[in-house]
Amino acid sequence: MTSDKPYAPAAEQNRTPILAQLREQFLAYGRVLEIGAGTGQHAAHFAAALPHLDWHPSDVVENLPGVEAWRRDAALPNLRPPLQLDVLRDAWPEGPFEYVYSANTVHIMHWPAVEALFAGVARVLAPGGLFALYGPFAHDGVHTADSNARFDRALRAQDPGMGVRDRADLDALAATHGLQPEAVIDLPANNQILLWRRT
Ligand SMILES: C[S@@+](CC[C@H](N)C(=O)[O-])C[C@H]1O[C@@H](n2cnc3c(N)ncnc32)[C@H](O)[C@@H]1O
Repeated sequence: MTSDKPYAPAAEQNRTPILAQLREQFLAYGRVLEIGAGTGQHAAHFAAALPHLDWHPSDVVENLPGVEAWRRDAALPNLRPPLQLDVLRDAWPEGPFEYVYSANTVHIMHWPAVEALFAGVARVLAPGGLFALYGPFAHDGVHTADSNARFDRALRAQDPGMGVRDRADLDALAATHGLQPEAVIDLPANNQILLWRRT
């Protein structure tokens, strides 16, 4: 690792269990749009491990140099230059994408941004395409672990617009955009991958 690249220990820890699920779910050749790529660690790791996927990371403009640094060092033919995409403000890339992937974003985004995220995902996903969303989620108003409840309280204390989202709210939002629940996959540290398929 070179010192000019941003690094998040959490992204290092969760990349292995997430990758195991992406291997199972993102089976066919296709284009992936990653939203909120953060440091760029996930993009570099997943593109290297899943060469049948054409990986397009994106994030808000401030994070693009870091994502580009990981891409440059990875030097992979299937890892594309990062796209500027603030889901509320920027033009979305041209679809169709067979897959959209996003990790740890919807508890950071305010709800209007979460709404814009689902609307945009539905627009760019190919028919039959999958949206995989990783993170901590509540279920029918109940946190799945005390640590998630504490995390939720900390987020809301920091910014009342942030917070751990409830699966029911996300499913309702997804349904308004033609995205049907496909699977809920439990992962370590009380996180999950929620999968929706565009009908
Ligand atoms: C907690 S970080 C997660 C980063 C990375 N996906 C990971 O799991 O390590 C949250 C990410 O959401 C992105 N984000 C927040 N608001 C956004 C918005 N309106 N549009 C696009 N990305 C946004 C941030 O820029 C940041 O990269």
